[in-house]
Amino acid sequence: MQKKIADLLSEVEAFTAGSLHEVEAFRVKLFGKKGDLTLLFDEFKQVSGEVKRELGQKINELKGKAQTRISELKEALEVGSAPALTLDASRPGSADSIGTRHPIASVRSEILAIFRQLGFAVAEGPEVEDDWHVFGALNFPPEHPARDMQDTFFIEKRENSENPVLLRTHTSSIQVRAMEKQQPPIRIVCPGRVFRNEAISARAHCMFHQVEGLYVDQSVSFADLKQTLLYFAKEMFGGGVEIRLRPSFFPFTEPSAEMDVSCSICGGKGCNICKGTGWLEVGGCGMVDPNVLDSCKIDSQKYGGFAFGMGVERIAMLKYQARDLRLYFENDVRFLRQFTAVV
Ligand code: PHE
Repeated sequence: MQKKIADLLSEVEAFTAGSLHEVEAFRVKLFGKKGDLTLLFDEFKQVSGEVKRELGQKINELKGKAQTRISELKEALEVGSAPALTLDASRPGSADSIGTRHPIASVRSEILAIFRQLGFAVAEGPEVEDDWHVFGALNFPPEHPARDMQDTFFIEKRENSENPVLLRTHTSSIQVRAMEKQQPPIRIVCPGRVFRNEAISARAHCMFHQVEGLYVDQSVSFADLKQTLLYFAKEMFGGGVEIRLRPSFFPFTEPSAEMDVSCSICGGKGCNICKGTGWLEVGGCGMVDPNVLDSCKIDSQKYGGFAFGMGVERIAMLKYQARDLRLYFENDVRFLRQFTAVV
């Protein structure tokens, strides 16, 4: 019996198969009703005495090895037959998924393209700025609340520096850099990310995007500003749109105004988007304060200019009706994939 076990064991170890059919035949040869192993177990039942334990162990070991060998071969042959299925050339292919532009990026390019038609060049500048370019040169008095820690992310302590490093709160800093570098005529639009220390909610975020504009030359008038903004609004929101300027205050412009556009959703009749007023606020504007020109070494007796600034998210909200600002920053693909058709 010892020999029978040993012979069967080497047979199991040597066995290979080219098909599942051969494996099955081998299984029957061992485990079938009259199979070698079945008979061996029958024979084992007769054994008694000292050898029983030792033989029992050997037979069980043989049974285990035979089972593993059979399932190993079966698995290998099943996996081996799989490629025939995946190579079915008649199956339809799966399309590559193409990425989409972020809605803020496309609205930003749309705004810039409109101003380019009017001869504005695009200027950019650093997000990490200093107090002079964000506030000082723009006629902010030293104790102006916008310089306060409430709104501005300071990187350097104000107590330690005359001109502390900070994150820009508007892209007007780019306009200051342009005026310091270049004499008029200057006609630029300044896109960029800005930072303000605000609690994050559906309506406010600690960072957002702006496009600001500046035109400095001889005899620039408020009428020029109005026409420029009206042109922009018509291109952006459609020919029927109207604009409205409400008197306001900014340290760097005089006179200053808030710019509203007639609500493109209800056509000015009043709806829940414009809160029944028929108007939507899109940004600020005004005539450049002579103090700003002087700070940048531009002769304010000879030159004048206008400036404006608008929030890209605000315009995107009007365009796409997605009213929660946070959606634009979370990069959730379920939101972003909805903009596939936008250039
Ligand atoms: N810089 C202003 C802001 O961030 C916007 C503005 C720009 C207003 C130019 C008037 C003129 O709020």
